[in-house]
Amino acid sequence: MTPPARRDGTPDKKQSNRSGGYRSSVRGYKPGSNRPQQRQQPQKKDEILLSNAKPAKKQNVSADDDWSLGFLNRNDSDGIRLQKVLAQAGVASRRHAEILIDQGRVEVNDRIVTTQGVRVDPKKDVIRVDGVRININEDLEYFVLNKPRGMHSTMSDELGRPCVGDLVSEKTASGQRLFHVGRLDADTEGLLLLTNDGELANRLMHPKYEVTKTYLATVRGEANNKLISELRGGVELEDGPAKADFAQIIDVFQGKSLLRIEIHEGRKHIVRRLFQELGFPVERLVRTKLHTVQLGDQKPGTLRALNSAELTSLYKVVQL
Ligand code: URA
Repeated sequence: MTPPARRDGTPDKKQSNRSGGYRSSVRGYKPGSNRPQQRQQPQKKDEILLSNAKPAKKQNVSADDDWSLGFLNRNDSDGIRLQKVLAQAGVASRRHAEILIDQGRVEVNDRIVTTQGVRVDPKKDVIRVDGVRININEDLEYFVLNKPRGMHSTMSDELGRPCVGDLVSEKTASGQRLFHVGRLDADTEGLLLLTNDGELANRLMHPKYEVTKTYLATVRGEANNKLISELRGGVELEDGPAKADFAQIIDVFQGKSLLRIEIHEGRKHIVRRLFQELGFPVERLVRTKLHTVQLGDQKPGTLRALNSAELTSLYKVVQL
């Protein structure tokens, strides 16, 4: 399936590589690698501006704009200096950001920039350092919620039941449009991502990217190695086979067991159904991790902002 177009309408990174466009004209760049192989020499504008990339349908430029000129052609008053944006995003001090630019480690909209003073638009431009995407758009927000048990994964509930929306009502009342990335059962606790970044949310939920979720499950019954091999080997459920990517017994005590299970599937009640099918009904289920983002000791019902390393890692796993 074709991945959705980027939020800012720029072509997908892989597609632009495949098109054999500007990258091949950038000296020292080895295709398939994130880093240039040698220090970049300052380039003539013409060399940088070469692009065979096909503008996406929803390009964020008017038909009159020369898209290929992009950020290099902006007036001095347009946008914010790249080194300032990098510093504001916490990547490096301004001075160090200049060094990163000089070393050819910074990309704007898939072009390596070695010129100092280039201005960018934080709301539209996609910036990468060493191939890793940096969030520079302050309008985009990302939170980890520790969803308490008994709370529904909805932003409002017609029946007046407690829901995730209640916990962020102050934010949404002040105009923030947040939504949850996927769902947890009302009876499941733990990590739920909230954001207004629709593209990241869609990709995290898309099966193609196989984003791993980790759960701690308390089950009835004494778990054994047979259960682990069955979980990992695959179980036939009514809507098709399912299997854990990883499963481990943490504790067995008085007829109950605590297990860690990792799965990238997003089907409804998938963890509960897996254990149920194998004869170990789930009594308590907590999502502790989404890809590299951990719940840690965050208290139920609280929100915290994602840090930049976590966000970068999420962008990366869904190829943004
Ligand atoms: N699997 C389940 O069974 N429930 C959840 O809430 C999430 C995954």
